[in-house]
Amino acid sequence: MSFRASELARERVGAAEEDVHFPEALVRAVVAEYTSPGDVVLDPFAGFGATLVVCEQMERSAVGIELLPERVAVIRQRLDGKATVIEGDARHLGELGLGPFDLCLTSPPYMSALDQPSNPLTGYTTNDGHYPTYLAELSQVFAAVAELLRPRGHLVINAANIRNGDVVTPLAWDIAQGVAAHLSLRTETYLHWDDPPPWMSGDYCLVFQKA
Ligand SMILES: C[S@@+](CC[C@H](N)C(=O)[O-])C[C@H]1O[C@@H](n2cnc3c(N)ncnc32)[C@H](O)[C@@H]1O
Repeated sequence: MSFRASELARERVGAAEEDVHFPEALVRAVVAEYTSPGDVVLDPFAGFGATLVVCEQMERSAVGIELLPERVAVIRQRLDGKATVIEGDARHLGELGLGPFDLCLTSPPYMSALDQPSNPLTGYTTNDGHYPTYLAELSQVFAAVAELLRPRGHLVINAANIRNGDVVTPLAWDIAQGVAAHLSLRTETYLHWDDPPPWMSGDYCLVFQKA
């Protein structure tokens, strides 16, 4: 799997600094690498729906979960009826009766370890943010993903390390450590942005596989 920096750069033109949409080029590369037409893909943190939209274009079935109703509405407008988005909390993924999936491709909401009161897993709407709790909850979500993957299925997580001044939260590596309890890490790809936002230290695609 490889990504051309020029493709990632083109999709960042005009993006806000806090904008963490997947570039569709990245979704296309991951879906092409790890699935075949007709396979089923999950995105438990669907955001604005890049995974679902690209899966529709590539003849894969797809299911997304997104917490924020306004984003669910945006996704529903973007879909042509083949993919599905569920308004819900990924922390309850195992209770939704979904699966099995061939691929889970996702990017969770980010958190810095440094004194961030807002909770990413409530859409930053509550001030009970706590970095160790956030990591534990993400690990539980990915444990549920592992249960729902078919044997040899893949989980691909896009996650960045977060810069606050001269301090870096190794978020991507902390997430990877939590997932490694449930799935095997196969490879990581460094995403080389021509014009990264200032808070982004390193941006990675972490590729895990079920036994
Ligand atoms: C990094 S964004 C994903 C962006 C997405 N990859 C895209 O290209 O649009 C993370 C998303 O997870 C959602 N989210 C946060 N907490 C959630 C939860 N507990 N369950 C489901 N979605 C959640 C956020 O609202 C946000 O849209």
